[in-house]
Amino acid sequence: MSESIIFSKGAQKAIVYEELLPQIQQLLQNEPDLIANLANISAVLKYAFGFFWVGFYLVQGEELVLGPFQGSLACTRIRKGRGVCGKSWDTGKTILVPDVDLFPGHIACSSLSRSEIVVPVFENGVVIGLLDVDSDKINDFDQVDALYLEKLATLITKNDCIE
Ligand code: SME
Repeated sequence: MSESIIFSKGAQKAIVYEELLPQIQQLLQNEPDLIANLANISAVLKYAFGFFWVGFYLVQGEELVLGPFQGSLACTRIRKGRGVCGKSWDTGKTILVPDVDLFPGHIACSSLSRSEIVVPVFENGVVIGLLDVDSDKINDFDQVDALYLEKLATLITKNDCIE
């Protein structure tokens, strides 16, 4: 009798992340330009997972400014402490939002967005940007996404300041 292995959704995701991260690391290795790298990371994540929206916001003074992304039109500027991104910047913590309607102050760039994860990107201990992933399904992200997207964020600046 043949045996089959049934993976949970989380396990399948972990396998894809495990395969993807070394490839992303390779991709970034010889390219010092941040924008070029963020553009490619957005594309890789979009095509690997089919995320509804995936991209970056970059810190510029007291605001976040939209960076490279894949998905529909998005808000261009977010003030510190505002929305999920502004809060993640302010606290330096990953924020998982299972239902955007229940997150006070959530900024709806698309009315189709239902859940979200935001991961800070650090350089020398300071948040320089945020990786933001949105889903059109409720409760679509979990600790597996948090774990691997945080690892990915450390590859961008090649440090590991997130706890
Ligand atoms: N929802 C985010 C805004 C960015 S968009 O999702 C692309 C927030 O509340 O910060």
